[in-house]
Amino acid sequence: ESRMRACSVGGDAAGLQGQQLWARGKRTVAVLGGAGGIGQPLSLLLKLNPLVSDLRLYDVAGTPGVACDLSHVNTQATVEGYAGDAELEKTLKGCDLIIIPAGVPRKPGMTRDDLFNINAGIVKSLMIGIAKHAPKALVNIISNPVNSTVPIAAEVLKKAGVFDPRRLFGVTTLDVMRARTFYAARMKTPVKDVDLPVIGGHAGITILPLLSQVKPKKNMTEKDIDALTKRIQDGGTEVVQAKAGKGSATLSMAFAGALFAEACIKGLEGEKNVVECAYVKSDVVKGIPFFSSKVQLGPNGIEKILGLGELSAYEQKALEAMKKELLNSITKGIDFVKK
Ligand code: NAI
Repeated sequence: ESRMRACSVGGDAAGLQGQQLWARGKRTVAVLGGAGGIGQPLSLLLKLNPLVSDLRLYDVAGTPGVACDLSHVNTQATVEGYAGDAELEKTLKGCDLIIIPAGVPRKPGMTRDDLFNINAGIVKSLMIGIAKHAPKALVNIISNPVNSTVPIAAEVLKKAGVFDPRRLFGVTTLDVMRARTFYAARMKTPVKDVDLPVIGGHAGITILPLLSQVKPKKNMTEKDIDALTKRIQDGGTEVVQAKAGKGSATLSMAFAGALFAEACIKGLEGEKNVVECAYVKSDVVKGIPFFSSKVQLGPNGIEKILGLGELSAYEQKALEAMKKELLNSITKGIDFVKK
């Protein structure tokens, strides 16, 4: 079941069960880019998560202030702020999970690929640190273009001889959230009941919601399917345009990032049947080495990559149509590290 679990993010901050759950938390989580638009609210949500005992915020600057602010929230996790290269090692040592929203966001008119020139270098340098100081940590990459930054991360880890494909994830949870929200709104069904996998990558036509597998299944016309698919693919651009130059999704991304982080931690804790969509090293689609599909999480990260299930003719066609772009983005990332 990939139904997005009722997240304990925030739920127990002041709750009666809080004490019990807090006693269990023992995970160390770092947010690289922790002073940014995503990094700050994501860190707040992690501070509310009873499974987290140590929260570390890292950025080029500003993190001591954000960490001090957060540390006054009366939940279990301790919060430390680190800034600059010299403190990267301290940030990473002993981490169970490292989340990377470091990098520049889009402005109107930009594609995610337009961010490559700046963000590829940022992700590469952070991954060199991770390969050295926390090679066993799970890594959640949010920085765009995810279709390329995840292959970059894999290549850096490979070069260092520490790549474990079970531990590296591109975060596509926001696409899944949008798919559920937009489907519920258009088909007039309660959003909390909606389960809708999204596969492929995280940019434009590489984002493919599997509406043929949606639950609960409402009677959709071809027009519904087409309109929903396009809106889900362009959800990020909707936000970029509405923010009119002030960045891209931050609050919804923070929530999505917190949900995915929690799923990863629950897997580490040995919880059964934790299933989420994520962009990972995969052989689910022949010839495409990184692909997003449902994955089952466990004590070592990915326990199992689940297949795509049956696709409709519409989805088959969309899958064929995305392959070239996705493969190009993957190759671009790999080449960036190789050369
Ligand atoms: P932002 O500009 O508000 O924050 C980024 C932070 O990264 C800044 O605080 C900056 O100082 C920091 N940073 C830059 N270089 C760094 C380095 N070398 N080490 C540590 N920190 C560094 O941007 P925002 O809105 O938080 O977006 C961050 C990234 O997330 C962007 O690349 C954006 O495209 C991506 N994103 C991904 C989504 C997804 O679904 N995967 C959704 C929304 C955004």
